[in-house]
Amino acid sequence: MTLTEEIQRRRTFAIISHPDAGKTTLTEKLLLFGGAIHVAGAVKSNKIKKTATSDWMEIEKQRGISVATSVMAFDYKDYHINILDTPGHQDFAEDTFRTLTAVDSVIIVIDAAKGVETQTRRLMEVCRMRKTPVMVFINKMDREGKDPFDLLDEVESELGIHVRPLSWPINMGQRFKGVYNIFQQTLDLYTPNKQTISESIQFADVNDPQITELVGEQDADKLRMDLDLIEGVYNPFSKEEYLKGDLAPVFFGSALNTFGVKELLECFVQIAPSPRPVSTLERMVDPLEEKFTGFCFKIHANMDPNHRSCIAFFKICSGKFERNAYYKHIRKGQQMRFSAPTCFMAQKKETIDEAFAGDIVGLPDTGNFKIGDTLTAGEELHFKGLPSFSPEMFKYIENADPMKQKQLDKGVNQLMDEGVAQLFTNQLTGRKIIGTVGQLQFEVIQYRLEHEYQAKCRWEPISLYKACWVAPADDSAESRAEYEMFKKRKAQYMAFDKEGRDVFLADSGYVLSMAQQDYQHLRFHFTSEF
Ligand code: G4P
Repeated sequence: MTLTEEIQRRRTFAIISHPDAGKTTLTEKLLLFGGAIHVAGAVKSNKIKKTATSDWMEIEKQRGISVATSVMAFDYKDYHINILDTPGHQDFAEDTFRTLTAVDSVIIVIDAAKGVETQTRRLMEVCRMRKTPVMVFINKMDREGKDPFDLLDEVESELGIHVRPLSWPINMGQRFKGVYNIFQQTLDLYTPNKQTISESIQFADVNDPQITELVGEQDADKLRMDLDLIEGVYNPFSKEEYLKGDLAPVFFGSALNTFGVKELLECFVQIAPSPRPVSTLERMVDPLEEKFTGFCFKIHANMDPNHRSCIAFFKICSGKFERNAYYKHIRKGQQMRFSAPTCFMAQKKETIDEAFAGDIVGLPDTGNFKIGDTLTAGEELHFKGLPSFSPEMFKYIENADPMKQKQLDKGVNQLMDEGVAQLFTNQLTGRKIIGTVGQLQFEVIQYRLEHEYQAKCRWEPISLYKACWVAPADDSAESRAEYEMFKKRKAQYMAFDKEGRDVFLADSGYVLSMAQQDYQHLRFHFTSEF
């Protein structure tokens, strides 16, 4: 196979959902189709159950599981599929945001009874920002849920994307009879079954009397009416619009019963994009370029405190990655060679000799990498698009063991490089503030500092509403003068982020909106990349 063929057959995506919508179940069923696993139940959920938030053994166990499920690769027909796992717990939303920078498309799972939930909405914002193509799977049709048309309206209005159903449910809950696949004009009759895959029956059109025989007159009539309505209300499916991130095809099914999943997968491999061009500060990188480039989007620390090694996950953006070849670590300006790169085929971690654009390689690391780092065959490139998001919870971090200041600093720095949370340093007092998206991160940091770095920290409260990155609106003298004035007036609320950029720590929503009003020549950004 040529390099181009290898790259074009790759489909790298993530499944995202609100916890409990069925992400793990759907992932498992996709692996079942790909032959990567043989029985359902083989994929462990990596979600930290709500009840176990302070159960450290549980978290450690979950970290172990999530290495194994970070990337799940399998072959389906002629395609090579990489599913990137995203943490289920909302306190790790930032991890998910970053994982989304490494995928070429996304499948969103929605619980038919619950509709669009908060976490889905937030994740969709990231997809919209990046124009990621999105497919929607409406799950749990074997249970009573909302009306399918209402669900479509909800997805359009809540997720801000046009939709086009490509399969349609015949009833739901106890009366669920199956789905009509609009994309391929087939009918799949529903039989609750967790292991096997239903057969589909092909029809020339939906008026075929056999459909009436199979699902009964009432449901067949309703199906025909629904399909008419769909044709009338929704524009025909357009692959171009889907690829631009403007239109989401929608499928219905029941992941638990392996139902409607095949339609989703078949359509997915046909329409989902192969690796897409990625922008760097210097230029666009085309995946088909021969020379290797890639960036680090995730660092996974070893669970064994005696070996402080990590796995740095790199998305390959172009060309071919080879074991033992020399690549340039751009930030460090160093040549590096990797003798044990891994990939995750069929849930097993394996050393690989080569990998292609679209793939994820895991590189064993002892602290050389941080999130956002670029590796190339030699060219000076810097990948963009790994933004930090404004955290929502803040605490001062204080040293609780004066003999261990060095260990604490080192630990905090490394954990921040891993992307566990964000560090801000007050410009006036030098006090260090940790910002997270959830309470759980504070507990994780304290625990890991103690167990991996032998350092002790103490948290002290700080009342903050939001941290936002500020910058002059343009290069004019007026804007720059206003910027300097702002920094002077707000000196006690100014901090540096880890990269030394100016961050404004607003202590209330009111203060923030006043600042936005009063300083018209400044821009307040809620992600670090602007
Ligand atoms: P998540 O990863 O998105 O958090 O969801 P997960 O797949 O773990 O599914 C959440 C719950 O929903 C699970 O039940 C799962 O069995 C159930 N589920 C998934 N798909 C369907 C479906 O199509 N129909 C129905 N009726 N249920 C579905 P649980 O009781 O929380 O977990 P478990 O004890 O079954 O593992």
